[in-house]
Amino acid sequence: TEWTTKLRYLPYEDWPNQQIIDIKQKIATSHWRLGYHIQPSTGLLNDPNGFSYFNGQWHLFYQSFPYGPVHGLKNWTHLTSDDLVLWQDHGPLLLPGDEQDSHGAYSGSAISVEDQLFLMYTGNVRDENWVRHPKQDGAWMNAKNELTKISTPLIEEPKNGFTDHFRDPQILKHDGTYYCLIGARKKDDTGHVLVYQANAVTGPWQYKTELKFTDQPMGYMIECPNLVFVDGQPVLIFCPQGIAQSVLKHQNIYPNAYVVGKDFDWDNFQFIDPSEIKNLDDGFDVYATEALNAPDGRALTVSWIGLPDTEYPSDIEGWANCYSLVKELHLEDNQLYQLPVVENDKLIKIEINTSEITPQAKITMYMEANQRGQVSVKTDCGEELQIQLDTTNGKILVDRTNAGVAVAVDHGTKRETNVTEGPITAELYFDNTVFELYINGGQKVITGRVFPQGRQFFVESQNVQLQKFQLEKIY
Ligand code: FRU
Repeated sequence: TEWTTKLRYLPYEDWPNQQIIDIKQKIATSHWRLGYHIQPSTGLLNDPNGFSYFNGQWHLFYQSFPYGPVHGLKNWTHLTSDDLVLWQDHGPLLLPGDEQDSHGAYSGSAISVEDQLFLMYTGNVRDENWVRHPKQDGAWMNAKNELTKISTPLIEEPKNGFTDHFRDPQILKHDGTYYCLIGARKKDDTGHVLVYQANAVTGPWQYKTELKFTDQPMGYMIECPNLVFVDGQPVLIFCPQGIAQSVLKHQNIYPNAYVVGKDFDWDNFQFIDPSEIKNLDDGFDVYATEALNAPDGRALTVSWIGLPDTEYPSDIEGWANCYSLVKELHLEDNQLYQLPVVENDKLIKIEINTSEITPQAKITMYMEANQRGQVSVKTDCGEELQIQLDTTNGKILVDRTNAGVAVAVDHGTKRETNVTEGPITAELYFDNTVFELYINGGQKVITGRVFPQGRQFFVESQNVQLQKFQLEKIY
């Protein structure tokens, strides 16, 4: 298929049913599908949206273009879960195509209000000259998971002085007032987070102020801002596109970053004593992470494992991208700690005592201080994902150079991170074509995709003590 603009934005009703059937057929024989990570039923998945707890269940939506592995006319596809591990896919729920979201139901968030869930999202609207007119829209989902859109935008247009890059509202409630954070690009090509407020979710919404979380330049555009409170401190998780390497050293096309405040001033929307900007993940593919202060008291996140403007080898199978496991956040000395939620332990089946592992596996690692060591996941086709550990200077390097079909090689095939000195512990969650490596209790995380031709996986190690477990295949 040649993915022309016309095809990408074709109204859903103009697609023949056969398109989805054909993709599903291709996917049925896929080499690269995942066993316990959220993946699109067809087509392309990007940002997680509307992560929430409502009506006794967890809810999550994915940005979806269902008709092919490309960015096109996006909907929100609805997932529910009882345990944050097994998710049921209920199909597209928030559909694009009305006046306020003619060219896509773009990213946003959800908050439960009385007996309904309120969704706030960006309606991507383009005119006949293909000029963007972003709208911030609302919709209600009731306890039967039925959706009703609000046809009048909650916020009609960008603030004066800002461009049409204005999207991804995160809705929050504090002291009885609703706030939303919106990513924005100023006319001088700088990235900002704007704050609006309202007494009711349906509005009227008024501009309040700019979120003040750093003195440093944040590139030309901020996507997907998320303010979350972790162990009592404010954390902003965001995507500063075009941020200078001198402000945030990064290798991916666009970074997903965070900043921590000592405290938060709600009157001025200001971080008190903000930290440096840091990478949320030191790997290859994490973007658009969504955060949630859950009613059970935990600070949770889920990340898109996939990057904008990037092609992935699974495109030929008619699908692209996946999500991380749901992670729980903690803070220690302004460093974020991220670990898969404890519910994931139920995926563990049995210990593996052979070098061959199952495509779904968890590998725990331990290496003593003052050592150099290595762990490799190899395939029967000679491919290799290599993890080098060095406790002489607290370094971990992940190398996917020879791990299979190449991905985004222009941005390098190795990623490295530093950890505090002393022994290293790590947990590798491996799932056929995605890995998440949690180092020293989640002090650092290295996430990435690999696309091997091999079907069998073998683990080898030097100077590193391993334990291996088979994990359930639930999808
Ligand atoms: C980030 C993003 C968002 C936008 C969405 C569209 O990946 O570009 O800014 O709302 O994807 O799918």
